[in-house]
Amino acid sequence: MQVPFQLQSIEDYHQVYAYSKTHPLDFWSQLASYYQWMQPWHTVCEGGFDQADVRWFSGAKLNITANCLDRHLPVLAQQPAFTWVPNDPREPYVVITYAELHQRVQQMAWNLSHLGVSKGDRVAIYMPMIPETVVAMLACARLGAIHTVVFAGFSAQSLADRINDANARLVICTDGMYRGDKTIDVKSVVDEALTAVDGEVRTLVVQRTSSEVHWRPNLDFWLHELEVNHAPFHPVATDAEDVLFILYTSGSTGKPKGVVHTTGGYMVYAGYSFSNVFQYQPGDLFWCTADVGWITGHTYLVYGPLLAGAHSVIYEGVPVYPNPDRCWQIIERLKVNQFYTAPTLIRSLMALGPDRPSSFNMPSLKLLGTVGEPINEEAWHWYYSQVGKDRCALVDTWWQTETGGILLTTLGNIMPPKPTFAGLPLPGVHPKIIDPQGNEITDPDTEGLLVVAQPWPSMIRTTWGDHPRCISTYFSPFKGYYFTGDGARRDEHGYFRISGRVDDVINVSGHRLGTAEIENAVNEHPIVVESAVVGVHHPIKGQGICVFAICNPFPEHEDLVRMEIAEEVSRIIGKIAKPDQIWFVKALPKTRSGKIMRRILRKIAEGHCDQLGDTSTLLDPSVVDDLIAACKP
Ligand code: WT7
Repeated sequence: MQVPFQLQSIEDYHQVYAYSKTHPLDFWSQLASYYQWMQPWHTVCEGGFDQADVRWFSGAKLNITANCLDRHLPVLAQQPAFTWVPNDPREPYVVITYAELHQRVQQMAWNLSHLGVSKGDRVAIYMPMIPETVVAMLACARLGAIHTVVFAGFSAQSLADRINDANARLVICTDGMYRGDKTIDVKSVVDEALTAVDGEVRTLVVQRTSSEVHWRPNLDFWLHELEVNHAPFHPVATDAEDVLFILYTSGSTGKPKGVVHTTGGYMVYAGYSFSNVFQYQPGDLFWCTADVGWITGHTYLVYGPLLAGAHSVIYEGVPVYPNPDRCWQIIERLKVNQFYTAPTLIRSLMALGPDRPSSFNMPSLKLLGTVGEPINEEAWHWYYSQVGKDRCALVDTWWQTETGGILLTTLGNIMPPKPTFAGLPLPGVHPKIIDPQGNEITDPDTEGLLVVAQPWPSMIRTTWGDHPRCISTYFSPFKGYYFTGDGARRDEHGYFRISGRVDDVINVSGHRLGTAEIENAVNEHPIVVESAVVGVHHPIKGQGICVFAICNPFPEHEDLVRMEIAEEVSRIIGKIAKPDQIWFVKALPKTRSGKIMRRILRKIAEGHCDQLGDTSTLLDPSVVDDLIAACKP
């Protein structure tokens, strides 16, 4: 059976979009019918935005791994699901067929169940990009356990916060991991994290680097020492609305929150969006460079491709190791057809040698994709012409951890791209532009806040353990809408261009960080009294992190304290949050109500001191001159 609504032309798109608008429930239920359900739904969609109680495919039972694996076996058993490319170019590639993946997931599911994991339990996964990571996620899903993958670049403290919040009782990790020319201890980070977790937490350790590890008898288990059970592990029936995974992401306030996705709706949307956006054809090889610790890895490295029976690349290493040609070498050698990456990588490869891709033969490429942050015009053109040789489709896909899948994009080569514009909504998705008062702006060429007006199946269901936070972050700012936190422009053709976050969230190399979260880490330094963090323009990373700190006493050796603060932030959050600039100031620009005017800090940090705008609402406008004086390098 073909996926329904497999769009092949712009006419298809407009027709299906119109249908999805007039018959939303029929549209989504036809898409869902393509999959295997153990029990059908009685209601396609119920609940609403107000209480954030939207439910999809209520009453249905399914197992997502039956759809990712078992369903394909009659045809695809001997076809590759993944080609794993290890960090070291001398280590051979590993091809894993659907039959092998199916087998390994079942064995892992047996192991997890012997370690006491059962339906509804949370399992933390802290792993590098190796096949076992995907196997671990699918094994959790096979038995109905909830995975929470933590990016292996996060610190012990961040890992501990997530284990505690989710109350996970098992962590799956490796002994160590390879990143470029470095070998990084993973198990020791887990050990450190567990010192900050209450109660007993077991670990299941996959051997990767054969590094020495600290071992807790009866609590730590080597995967290769567990008994191998070859018996089938039948997929456990889960409700459509049972939680599939929790993925933590930063917001504008407080600690990262656990975004919850449920099984049925997420599956339907992951499969639908993957097939349409990337125009994947049987036999193609798809490569998504995202780490599995982010939502892009979940939806377009694991679930979307597997639901489509696709073959994809899992790459273990860093894209510029051992040289900046690594990506092109992999594409050339494996004949990759679709390449999906982030603007930050495109900009760094462009900076390392704009002509380098021309030394490679990449006729296999049909489509290039980007995600995670706005792509600037120069990077767009370089990607399109130097990598794609002016003949590949280029899709700039906009979405979020909360949306579960791509909402705005052009579709493969059936819709013309427009540089720096993401494009149109997928059929079934209803974005709108509103003004700050929440009024819809319908003008053909307009700018404002981006919201979504109708539920879609892979939308966030709740924030783990704190439903009111979910309502107040996404659904109460503008009644009747899901609020994205992004600003956007819509052109006369309906194409959307994302301008970036309008809240206190910054986007560093496509990684989302909250200013409050970084400020809390900076404030841990003993002499820091108060701090403010802003995102500033950065040529490669998109945004860099700039810290303004008030210290007591004022630091005598500024560079030393800068280093200490940077280390503190890396220790508490992870290296990705390391500040790019740190300035020591006497006061912060605050309004009479005590709110920090970050706009002013951003302008000063970017050197636009002549464009500060209205400063009359400041409690003490004279702080501006002090700030300008303090920020001279
Ligand atoms: C934020 C979501 C979902 C994939 C990875 C990021 C920004 C994402 C684009 C794009 C401009 C983009 C937005 C969004 N963003 N894609 N194509 N163009 N901005 O997921 O960590 O949840 O971050 O990333 O600001 O709100 P995330």
